[in-house]
Amino acid sequence: MRSARIALVTGANKGLGFALVEGMASRMGPEDLVLLTGRDARRVADAASLVARAPGTRSRVEGRVLDVTDAGAVAAMAAELHEGHGGVDIVVSNASALLTPDRPQSRQADEFIDVANGGTHAMLRSFGPVLRSGGRLIVVASSLGTLGHLDPRLQSLFDGASLDEVEKAVESWRAAVHAGSAEELGWPRWLNVPSKVAQIAAVRALAAQRRAQDVPDGTLIAAVCPGLVDTPLSRPWFDDFSQARTPAQAARPVLDLVLSERFDPAFYGELVRFGSVLPWRDGTPPKDQDRLLTP
Ligand SMILES: NC(=O)c1ccc[n+]([C@@H]2O[C@H](COP(=O)([O-])OP(=O)(O)OC[C@H]3O[C@@H](n4cnc5c(N)ncnc54)[C@H](OP(=O)(O)O)[C@@H]3O)[C@@H](O)[C@H]2O)c1
Repeated sequence: MRSARIALVTGANKGLGFALVEGMASRMGPEDLVLLTGRDARRVADAASLVARAPGTRSRVEGRVLDVTDAGAVAAMAAELHEGHGGVDIVVSNASALLTPDRPQSRQADEFIDVANGGTHAMLRSFGPVLRSGGRLIVVASSLGTLGHLDPRLQSLFDGASLDEVEKAVESWRAAVHAGSAEELGWPRWLNVPSKVAQIAAVRALAAQRRAQDVPDGTLIAAVCPGLVDTPLSRPWFDDFSQARTPAQAARPVLDLVLSERFDPAFYGELVRFGSVLPWRDGTPPKDQDRLLTP
């Protein structure tokens, strides 16, 4: 019989993260524990109690405060789960700060990069070592994060990069945003694009180190794209929501990936959308920058 599993989702008090917790809680067993994490104690407690009381919930659900910009807190949570439970089985790094087109992106850059990229790096560094054999360590990225979305001048910063090199590239991008030179250097104006490329590069860096052991062990490290999801995060940036999914719909293929016993080895270290790999080199640099222009 399999032992109780532990799952953890970041940025889970709403949106896709909440739907992932709801789905895990209904598809995992009564002995399993799902940790719904977020940065605000009240919002986390409310969301966790909502899932715990939902009629479809079968597993245990607990809320935990975890601000992913606090690398010490991320490391402490990983250590706690390692000491208390011998590790963790499913980790979904999902948190994102809001980005709005009505304020200059340079003013939003620090919080956005700290959550999406600093948070991803902290999650990969701290939870990689405590992932149990057969586990899943998943970063919620986007199809906008394939390498081809970057100007060719910038691609070598992320292609085949180590995690340290990805961190350095992110800091050089952040510095360029603050110096006002980002566009001249070829960085896309919409912060979400380089941020997602860097997330996928970080996943690829960790996966490259562990592939030989993880794949035979049935352990998966991957990025996922949930498609367009109707949440406050996406609303300001797209005109057409007719094809958008609800968070619960978008969570389904991600849940299939994290809860299935086996995975296609081709998924390892790659970006997976709706059960298929999106090639790393896909994409073209965004042309319609004006739509994404901040005042
Ligand atoms: N929506 C889309 O169309 C779409 C498409 C592709 C990829 N994605 C990705 O999917 C993920 C989830 O997006 P979503 O649309 O569900 O966004 P969302 O509804 O805005 O949820 C974002 C979550 O992240 C949390 N968060 C913000 N800062 C945090 C921090 N410092 N520490 C921990 N949690 C923090 C938020 O908490 P608070 O409530 O406290 O702010 C919230 O729970 C993101 O990575 C996003 O880039 C979304």
